[in-house]
Amino acid sequence: MQDDSLVTRRRFLSRVSLALSGLAGAVVSVPIVAYLLSPLLEPARAEWRDVGLVENFQVGETVEVAYDDPSPLPWAGQTVRTAVWLRRTADQSFSAFGINCSHLGCPVNWRPRAELFLCPCHGGVYYADGTVAGGPPPRPLTTVAVRITADQRVQVLPRPLAQTIAPSA
Ligand code: FES
Repeated sequence: MQDDSLVTRRRFLSRVSLALSGLAGAVVSVPIVAYLLSPLLEPARAEWRDVGLVENFQVGETVEVAYDDPSPLPWAGQTVRTAVWLRRTADQSFSAFGINCSHLGCPVNWRPRAELFLCPCHGGVYYADGTVAGGPPPRPLTTVAVRITADQRVQVLPRPLAQTIAPSA
């Protein structure tokens, strides 16, 4: 016959062991989860990015200019390299657009002969000024602030990707 007190002691020790294992797992996982989530909770920094000299751009041309994201996630890898579409509209005037479609964020392509931005994902089309010409995009391409510094360098102030994509309607 089995001793009831032995079974109870075994059960008790088993439960204590499980509770301590769970506690140890929680203690170890808290800093890891905090590390992974902290970049998502911090507001992204807005920072001017230099994209070159004014003289490097032709009036009336739209070109893709690349730069490093000022607030990359630790695991971003190569995606830290991003870009905007930059158009020199006059001698001392530029406009710029986010590269991501306002529908679901695919990068749009500039077609110079058609003077249109085309989205390869679902056929979204935008005019040269970033407004929607057709397809599913719910709003224009995101405009990006541009400035010319005293030493004639062009700088852009991109917004985080999350702010360029519309919530699905
Ligand atoms: Fe561009 Fe859907 S992501 S049309």
